[in-house]
Amino acid sequence: MSFQDILLESPSEHVLRITLNRPDARNALRRQLLEELTYALHDADADDAVRCVILTGGEKVFAAGSDIKEFAGKTKLDMQTDPRQELWKSIRAFSKPMVAAVNGYCLGGGNELVMLCDIVVAGEDAKFGQPEIKLGLIPGAGGTQRLTAAIGKARAMKCILSGEFISAEDAFNWGLVSELVDTDKAQDRAVEIATTIASMSPIAVKYALQAVRTAADSNEAGFKLERELLVDLFETEDLHEGISAFIEKRKPEFQGR
Ligand code: CAA
Repeated sequence: MSFQDILLESPSEHVLRITLNRPDARNALRRQLLEELTYALHDADADDAVRCVILTGGEKVFAAGSDIKEFAGKTKLDMQTDPRQELWKSIRAFSKPMVAAVNGYCLGGGNELVMLCDIVVAGEDAKFGQPEIKLGLIPGAGGTQRLTAAIGKARAMKCILSGEFISAEDAFNWGLVSELVDTDKAQDRAVEIATTIASMSPIAVKYALQAVRTAADSNEAGFKLERELLVDLFETEDLHEGISAFIEKRKPEFQGR
């Protein structure tokens, strides 16, 4: 398969770097990008030469979230059968360690992708957020669950209900980020960490990963509820107003309907 929305390279032995590459759309996670990512991770899972993956984006934007334009006109029924749900599940099922290297905006589904990673290296310029509320939407790829687990209810509520961004420094101090580095050092440091992990026993790494992921990610009922609530929102006028306002580059007028 040839890729259009992601780039693959190997910055060191046994390390695969996947770079999100839709700069004109600020790396918005359209369906095609998620399919390519799923495919690349599936291949990497089956390839013994790959022991650790680095996931990264652009210098100014890691990812602006799900592709909002793809949501335009979608109904509740469309969302119930939307293939993105399965794609997110496949990404979550990747069984090798993933290190995120983050610069710039890391928003919505972009932040949810980072929270699926096992280790997060952020440059000082990184800005994290779940701004879905500004569209009349909620996070739908585990954000309500993983952000709350990572930074606690009070901070997660502020972020998710206000849409305000979290600075790189706060993200580090609150536990969303493993290591904070100078803006231009995020890539190098991610490669260093990934190379160290790749030198360990792949079996022990896999077992450690399984055990820690289980501790961090066990609230199945919460994930299910989040998904159902997100799908229900596609019946509301407010969500369609939020999406139209984004596309038309204006402020939305929410009516509570
Ligand atoms: N989806 C689709 N297109 C997007 C996008 C997104 N999430 N984010 C940006 N774009 C597009 C813009 O529409 C614009 O396209 P045009 O050139 O055709 O007008 C282009 O990318 C450049 O965008 P900006 O001019 O806004 O770029 P900027 O550098 O000034 O700002 C940004 C960057 C702060 C990331 C800003 O683009 C932004 O706030 N984006 C939206 C963020 C957002 O709301 N994310 C949540 C998405 S919903 C989600 O993720 C749902 C979920 O979990 C289920």
